[in-house]
Amino acid sequence: MFGTYIHIPFCEKLCTYCDFAKEIAKPEKKRAYLKALFYEMKLSEEMFQTTDTVYIGGGTPTALSDEDFELLLVEINQHVDVKNLKEFTVEANPSSLTKEKAKLLKAHGVTRVSLGVQTFNDALLTLINRDHRQVDVLKALDHLKEVGLTHYSLDIMFGLPAQSWDAFQEDLEKFIQVGAEHYSIYALILEDHTKLHHQITHGLLTLPDDDLVADMYAHIIKRMKEEGYDHYEISSFAKPGRRSIHNPIYWRNEAYLGLGAGAHGRLENTRYENIRSVKKYTDAMLEKGLKARIDYPYQPIHDTLLMGLRMKEGVNVTAFESTFGVHPLTRFPGLKDRLEEGLIRIENDQLQLTDKGLFFANNVWMDCLDDEDTAERI
Ligand SMILES: C[S@@+](CC[C@H](N)C(=O)[O-])C[C@H]1O[C@@H](n2cnc3c(N)ncnc32)[C@H](O)[C@@H]1O
Repeated sequence: MFGTYIHIPFCEKLCTYCDFAKEIAKPEKKRAYLKALFYEMKLSEEMFQTTDTVYIGGGTPTALSDEDFELLLVEINQHVDVKNLKEFTVEANPSSLTKEKAKLLKAHGVTRVSLGVQTFNDALLTLINRDHRQVDVLKALDHLKEVGLTHYSLDIMFGLPAQSWDAFQEDLEKFIQVGAEHYSIYALILEDHTKLHHQITHGLLTLPDDDLVADMYAHIIKRMKEEGYDHYEISSFAKPGRRSIHNPIYWRNEAYLGLGAGAHGRLENTRYENIRSVKKYTDAMLEKGLKARIDYPYQPIHDTLLMGLRMKEGVNVTAFESTFGVHPLTRFPGLKDRLEEGLIRIENDQLQLTDKGLFFANNVWMDCLDDEDTAERI
């Protein structure tokens, strides 16, 4: 399978915790960006047209004006026969997923929407500087229903600042009531250089402690299982047959094209990332074309394990050995200790995290790196 990720680095408001490439920009800057992005699509056309999946993420793709959003979807349709895609997902924010945007999605072949909800708690939404409220989520879902877009996933976060156990439980039950076919449920990561990091380190806000966050995760796993969801990746839960098709391309370490500022790509034997700054990406792409991409070391043996262990199935040991000529536990001896601790297991030839290992995945990943690698990779 071969996928394409397209990055739209614009938002209407900046969330305090977010470290992705994004900014609030004027219409002219967005237009200039699209011009560079379309040029990158054209230069990558040979590969782009063979893609099995398209995923437009952000930032917030729906933060584009209707006109620009349509230009983007039309441009994609010019390169790709979208009817034959296995999945075409667009990320959206509840406040900007208007009826008009929903119609555009449907008209241009989008099959799935990933809606950034994060929490249903209005006070918490305010605290993390989201530009929507609970009521906007329900409106956005109505718009999807009206145009007949039934496949959607909700993004949820837990371990948010000042989030109590009771507030968390109430939130989770509201999410479950929506009955989405897919949920991506993330523990908050306190990223350096974010406003939230400043608020926490200066004592302006507090985060729930690690034990409470672990209890929240355990409760999520239990409740989602009770509701019939398949916990198929550390943060992903799907109704039977409704797993994401695009994201596992990353987890199986398959090839994908990354287009736009800050996007990463992994082609045959290379990895690259695009310049994160919108202005610098725009100028460099228009001037130098694909030479503006920055190559970085491709370590398939590490990536196969680091990404593969995110999935419930894990990594096939025989396939790993035939590709890399070594057993994963021989190549990364630290994993033997993790096996003894019960954090990983080998079952039916699959090396995978155990239920306990889900809570200590970072420790396992550290053992899939060589000394010279830094913890930054995970
Ligand atoms: C790059 S964001 C873009 C989504 C969309 N624009 C939105 O927020 O409505 C994709 C998802 O990553 C998750 N995310 C972003 N920052 C995070 C952090 N610091 N810790 C954990 N999850 C995070 C959020 O759930 C978010 O929906």
